[in-house]
Amino acid sequence: MGKFTLGSTKEEVFEMLPEGNIKVTQLGAKKLCVVRKGEEVYAFEQLCPHRGAPLKDGHINGYGEVICALHSYRFDMKTGQLKSGGSCGDLEVYQTHLTDSGLEIMV
Ligand code: FES
Repeated sequence: MGKFTLGSTKEEVFEMLPEGNIKVTQLGAKKLCVVRKGEEVYAFEQLCPHRGAPLKDGHINGYGEVICALHSYRFDMKTGQLKSGGSCGDLEVYQTHLTDSGLEIMV
C-alpha cells in the first residue's frame, strides 16, 4: 500500500475537485475515481464491480452513493457497500485524508 498526495493546499484540492463531480485520477498503477462533498473526499475503484462500466459516467446522490450509469446499481462511496442492484461484489474504496497540505489517498 502506498500513500499519494494530490495538491499542496486544501484550496488547491477544492479547485481540482469541484463538489459532486466524479474525477478520475491515476495513482501509481491504479486509476480511481475521486469525489468531494464539502470537506469529505471519497476515493473508489473506477470500474463498476457489476459489469465494469466506468463509474465516472455515473452520478452521485444525496446519500453519499455513486450510481452506475449502466444498470443503476448504487454503492456507498465511503464503505463500498452495494446498496441496490442485483448481485455483485462491493466497490473497492480507498482511505482519504484532507489536510492543509493536500489530499492524502492510501492505495
Ligand atoms: S455495470 Fe454498473 S451496474 Fe451494471
